[in-house]
Amino acid sequence: MFQLTRSVTWQALQGLQAQTANDRIRDYFAAEPERFEKMSLRVDGLFLDYSKQPVSEAVLAKLIELANHSALVQRRAQMFSGDIINVTEDRPVLHTALRNLGDDPVMVDGQDVMPEIQRTREQIRSFSEAVRNGEWTGYSGERIKDVVNIGIGGSDLGPNMACRALLKYRHPELSFHFVSNVDGAHIQKVLNRLNPATTLFIVSTKTFSTQETLLNAHTARRWFLDNAGPEADVGAHFIAASTNKAAAMAFGIREENVFEFWAWVGGRYSMWSSIGLPIALSIGFQGFMELLEGAYAMDQHFLSAPFAENMPVLMALIGIWHINFQGAETQAIVPYDQALHQLPAFLQQLDMESNGKSVDIFGHPVDYKTGPIVWGQTGSNGQHAFFQLLHQGTRYVPIDFIASLKPEPGMEEHHFALLTNMLAQANAFMEGSQTGSRLDPYSCPGNRPSSVLLLDELTPKNLGALIALYEHKVFVQGVIWNINSFDQWGVELGKRIAGEISERIDAHSQDFDASTQGLLALVRGHF
Ligand code: F6P
Repeated sequence: MFQLTRSVTWQALQGLQAQTANDRIRDYFAAEPERFEKMSLRVDGLFLDYSKQPVSEAVLAKLIELANHSALVQRRAQMFSGDIINVTEDRPVLHTALRNLGDDPVMVDGQDVMPEIQRTREQIRSFSEAVRNGEWTGYSGERIKDVVNIGIGGSDLGPNMACRALLKYRHPELSFHFVSNVDGAHIQKVLNRLNPATTLFIVSTKTFSTQETLLNAHTARRWFLDNAGPEADVGAHFIAASTNKAAAMAFGIREENVFEFWAWVGGRYSMWSSIGLPIALSIGFQGFMELLEGAYAMDQHFLSAPFAENMPVLMALIGIWHINFQGAETQAIVPYDQALHQLPAFLQQLDMESNGKSVDIFGHPVDYKTGPIVWGQTGSNGQHAFFQLLHQGTRYVPIDFIASLKPEPGMEEHHFALLTNMLAQANAFMEGSQTGSRLDPYSCPGNRPSSVLLLDELTPKNLGALIALYEHKVFVQGVIWNINSFDQWGVELGKRIAGEISERIDAHSQDFDASTQGLLALVRGHF
């Protein structure tokens, strides 16, 4: 059986790591006058500079060899064509079909899924237009002013992140709220500000069985009925994005207001489906289509560019260099863009739920590290919070800096300060401080890796491309590690035990460990 860590390429990479361990990134620039040109690339509105990564030409060549020797070409083709690559859940993985704007059919079980996808897109178009232009009204005949998305995980993070990122394109008369936490404080805070007659609730849940979402949806429904009076009509104020039409209708949602999607769309990959409905409501259907266009363009790049010029493949390989050879445990995501403040949280789920695995696709334990801990927050805030550790701490933390070039009108001075701060940080991480000796407490060692990812402008199209870029990066890493990036059994375990504990709280169950029993006794006293 093929063992990744025994492969010649893997061992050569280990050898290269030992040889280059004392290299200074800045010396690479001195030796390679064209390093910036060579180690940067543009894909439409996105520009990636990875020249400040600790990869020599030899390392990069070997990493590309690693990709060449992996199942990447085959697995990529299988994903796009609807083969069952989510083997533990026995499903294809087809978020790419949701943004397929080409003419080719995509077959699942011998049937082209594109007509269904187009039908749902049309449903999103007509509904979002009706709400935006005031044709769709609540029970009192008033137009909708507030949209509340109730969902969690992938049914929250994608639309939440995108609506915030694209806030400047938002319909001026609509406000958006995202309720995810089962903590009642979350929904209470949102409901307190709303008028039921002008509020639309979207119950976003792939399965329509997630405890947090159902509890929040029922609380919203009760609030609506308590406050909206006799004319109340749940069907006029609650809609759903779900694969479980029957459960949504049992909740009181009208059949025509269930926006369907399919089992082959993973939760964390679902913002391109009906789960993206809040995005279409906020920025309009045209904007939503531009988001899909950007992702589609990135898909085409991912499918066709040679690995050495393939943005997601390069980012994945550099990540593998950090994780498997340089010993990095984490990956920081630092957008220098306030509108992207939810991006680290979104990418955290995308990466950690996908590649947080320790067995390969055959169920055998792996003997190498897989997905990193992904974390971060916006710059320049992060500079005054955690950057100190990144500059002078004992850990090795690769950073992705992300920013958009175009300033908002009237905000040029701020934007200039924002971008120069980011460039200063990326430079400082690599250069360190030249003053002082090693014993100088002020000196920064430098030689700390980062990439800079620039968007020409934060448009729907460029955001779509950015998200698809990270999706494919995570996919490539999963393929090289030979793991299934599309299941989440750990999360399912948590969901199951939460259900069991709440069902058995009165039974003084001996089934749980002594600690859980002791804690349950304390909880029980309050209910
Ligand atoms: O967090 C685990 C998960 O299964 C995600 O993949 C999903 O996005 C989330 O729970 C919510 O599930 P659902 O959309 O079915 O409510």
